[in-house]
Amino acid sequence: MRRSTNWWFFREHMQLSLISGALQCDCAVCCRRKDEPPLIKGWIPFLGKGLEFGKDAYKFLDKHKRKHGDIFTVQMAGKYMTFVLDPLLYPYIIKHGRQLDFHEFSNKVAPITFGYPPVHSKLHPGLKEQIQRSFKLLQGESLTLLTESMMGNLMLVFRQDHLGHSDWMSGSMYQFCLSVMFEATLLTMFGCVSSARRHGGVRALRDDFVKFDDKFPLLIAQVPICLLRGTRAIRKKLINYFLPDRILKEVSESFTQINNTLSPLSAHHFAMLWASVGNTVPATFWAMYYLLSHPEALQAVRQEIQEVLSLSGVEFSNDTDVKLHREQLDKPTTSSESTINESFRLSSASMNIRVAQEDFSLQLGESRSVAVRKGDIIAMYPQIMHLDPEIYEEPKKFRFDRYVHNGAEKTDFYKDDQKLKYYLMPFGSGSSMCPGRYFAMNEIKQFLSLLLLYFDLQLEDGQSRAELDPSRAGLGILLPSADVRFRYRLRVV
Ligand code: HEM
Repeated sequence: MRRSTNWWFFREHMQLSLISGALQCDCAVCCRRKDEPPLIKGWIPFLGKGLEFGKDAYKFLDKHKRKHGDIFTVQMAGKYMTFVLDPLLYPYIIKHGRQLDFHEFSNKVAPITFGYPPVHSKLHPGLKEQIQRSFKLLQGESLTLLTESMMGNLMLVFRQDHLGHSDWMSGSMYQFCLSVMFEATLLTMFGCVSSARRHGGVRALRDDFVKFDDKFPLLIAQVPICLLRGTRAIRKKLINYFLPDRILKEVSESFTQINNTLSPLSAHHFAMLWASVGNTVPATFWAMYYLLSHPEALQAVRQEIQEVLSLSGVEFSNDTDVKLHREQLDKPTTSSESTINESFRLSSASMNIRVAQEDFSLQLGESRSVAVRKGDIIAMYPQIMHLDPEIYEEPKKFRFDRYVHNGAEKTDFYKDDQKLKYYLMPFGSGSSMCPGRYFAMNEIKQFLSLLLLYFDLQLEDGQSRAELDPSRAGLGILLPSADVRFRYRLRVV
């Protein structure tokens, strides 16, 4: 839809990489040690296989898996990344102790990307702990508060922007999801848009956010922001939206507690905003897209939502505001949950990273181990598992009830006749697992509920199938390569 930035990055950096690479005699390449996995290196020193990986990570990994098996090391962008692709081996990595660390990577990359000080900065003592504490507030009791606030805000945005007409309306699906989810999340997390909305402030903030998000893969790849034309200025603008005098004075009551505990740094608020919408918007898009392209799924999910409401004694009409509380969302809503999980399976391409803290032998089961070196990256790439035909029959097909068995959630999936502990990983794993995952699931359910209760929906005719844009591979939910047109009309209830 909007990304070809990886190519730009590689072009710009090629020269630098060539020079610095030519000056290095790379020990990891020259002298492979016993038990180290096969090494795949490119012909360009330093850059290695970065170009090929950046173009289409899934294709790249799938090709090398066929040739080298489930474990191999790839040299790229000056790093050695050992990919472990057999999901039966994931538990050994996820449960591994101190020798494999996640936070070393995120603590280094997140401050550079979002512009807040290093987490161990002397100027902000306790920053790391504050950030970790703020993650906890996305769960437990605070989640009830957040979920209720999100429901009200989604309703508000739907009423203001979409519920006024009875004729068929036409829209671009990604833009629709972006505008609804962005504003409702902003209101819920930061409670700051009521007056901004009147002055077009939300749209300006959203547009800046999209510009920043476009460069996000490069920033995560640690490309200096000064090389990404205009991005530093946009990031500064975005951070400034979160200056205390601009935003916190309008904080909604529901989230005040959480905001007070969050780091006082505006840049950290901005990072939280990115985390809370960067993946949720494309995830919402794919769930909506798959429902509209599979009428039987749409029908089943709509019916399930209507049943949840009627069980709570709510008689739905167009004039009433829908309220779905946390307890209702937590109830076994098998079709909705399975639909969302199935769209995660098809659209997520996150990479789970750990950094080796010393040279050691990584034990992968009773009879298997690989040697890793200090500083090497160990990576799991669950998309390979999500699309494995041995685990998921016809893996490229959307089946809304794939995660349902006998009316309950299906959790048994197999590889080599062994039950998988991990079979769906859109939110990462273990110590690095997304702290916002419960909130994300609730808000996507809430969004879909409003959509299906209030509207008749159709894809516009004559469009080609939505495809995944691979340029954000490794970072979460992929975006569509082009937007999709759809029609919607208020249902007569
Ligand atoms: C569909 C929606 C979402 C997806 C697919 C998603 C996925 C992820 C993934 C893959 C990670 C990195 C995990 C790892 O490296 O192992 C992550 C981290 C994170 N997510 Fe989410 N996320 C979603 C929604 C949210 C929401 C709604 C919030 C907050 C409101 C949130 C907050 C965070 C934070 C703060 C981190 C960093 C955690 C850390 O550094 O330890 N996410 N998310």
